[in-house]
Amino acid sequence: MNTGFPKDFLWGGAISCSQADGGFLQDGKGVSTQDLRYLNPAWNRDEVEEKHHNSPFSKAEFDTALKDMGVEFYPNRRGIDFYNKYKEDIALFSEMGMNVFRTSICWSRIFPNGDDVKPNEKGLQYYRDMFAECQKKGMKVFATILHYDIPVNLVTKYGGWKNRKTIDLFVDYVKVLFENLGDLVDYWLPINEFNAGRFAPWDGVCLIPGEEENMNQAIFQCLHHQFLAHARIVKMGHEMMPDSQIGGMIARFTTYPATCKPEDALQAIHDDQYANWFYTDIMARGKYPKYMERYFDRFNIKIQMEEDDERILREGTVDYLSFSYYFSQVATSDQGWEKTAGNLIMANKNPYLETSEWGWQMDPIGLRITLNQMYDRYELPLFIAENGLGTSDVLEVDGSIHDDYRIDYLKSHIEQMKEAIIDGVEVLGYTMWGIIDIVSCGPLTMDKRYGVIYVDLDNGGLGSGNRYKKDSFYWYKHIIETNGKEL
Ligand code: BG6
Repeated sequence: MNTGFPKDFLWGGAISCSQADGGFLQDGKGVSTQDLRYLNPAWNRDEVEEKHHNSPFSKAEFDTALKDMGVEFYPNRRGIDFYNKYKEDIALFSEMGMNVFRTSICWSRIFPNGDDVKPNEKGLQYYRDMFAECQKKGMKVFATILHYDIPVNLVTKYGGWKNRKTIDLFVDYVKVLFENLGDLVDYWLPINEFNAGRFAPWDGVCLIPGEEENMNQAIFQCLHHQFLAHARIVKMGHEMMPDSQIGGMIARFTTYPATCKPEDALQAIHDDQYANWFYTDIMARGKYPKYMERYFDRFNIKIQMEEDDERILREGTVDYLSFSYYFSQVATSDQGWEKTAGNLIMANKNPYLETSEWGWQMDPIGLRITLNQMYDRYELPLFIAENGLGTSDVLEVDGSIHDDYRIDYLKSHIEQMKEAIIDGVEVLGYTMWGIIDIVSCGPLTMDKRYGVIYVDLDNGGLGSGNRYKKDSFYWYKHIIETNGKEL
């Protein structure tokens, strides 16, 4: 009888290089698109606030803070200095008993300009050392190859993902990773949250909002190029490393019809297709789904394809699927439906759900639903690559952090993951998002904290940078020790 987590279940945590590493320009790193946020005129605070409307402080407060510090402020350039502190942090992960660690590889650390002839050896050495450290501590490595940051030079020189040249440069770069890190990585994930390209164009496909004549057209053309790159990488990985596990990922926007009105039920099917299935269908089935033809016609989107593109997509299907899961939303035909914030999108509000401090709708059962829906559709193993609660925490004078709200959140989601496993879904692992506090991706602040490890840095990047264990650290340690039996 299936009673829950299999004995080889992977328990871990996830971060991304641009939000954690710091080490800006250290050891030959080039500038990435995430290093530019706030500096890039197209990515200003107002825009971020509009998208993530619950930003913790006002523009005036932010500007004063910058002035006081006398520096220009690019939070991702500092991160939490994981680049220099990774040994200390990995020791904490290991103390918790984590057996998998997910992070991303920074393209501009390996190829500072993206089109350099030779890789930066120091960048490669860093990843060899860091991944070897994980192995030494008994952790598998789950490596994201592209998590929103590409070398800026590729955007200024070639137009980023608009240009097919970027596909070749990306594939060449990944070949170097496979050659140099193939023995250290257990799970490869070429592109973080594929559908981010649609909903957060700068992060996902390096398009500058307001600078495209036909934004929709540009987005889907870029996505097509990413699909091709993705498929080529999967195929190449399988050829170079026959036992490799290479997977796809989306930000999963779990969607329910707002009512049992047939119009709402139909809307839910469409929303799911356009926001979720389109991406996983291509990565898992190797072809564009039929339902997108009508969508493309409706928005006058014409994707430029070349002769071999269909074959390339067919030949590069994934071994597993992964997703981030933070919230669910409802689909409605009512244009005036109340909205609330969500990961990458504004979501339609569900009156039955509570929201987090940042307005995201918390729905543990939605995780079980998602796992069942995805497994039913593809029958591929699933990996929960991200899930967690972003909220502010208080560091007490004695160095403790009492985050029972985070424990409640994680507990309720892990319980539902267990139910899904008992339902028959094959789940490989769970990498909690932001296992250690990092710069948040939307608002770019430190006080939207996800970690079970607290990092003493404030929104202006000031603080000791010291690490402290939150109550949730000890709780998660126990969950891992008992393989989820004592939830
Ligand atoms: C996901 C991203 O979309 O959401 C992460 O992959 C991000 O990079 C996470 O940090 C949470 O979003 P935020 O804006 O709260 O950091």
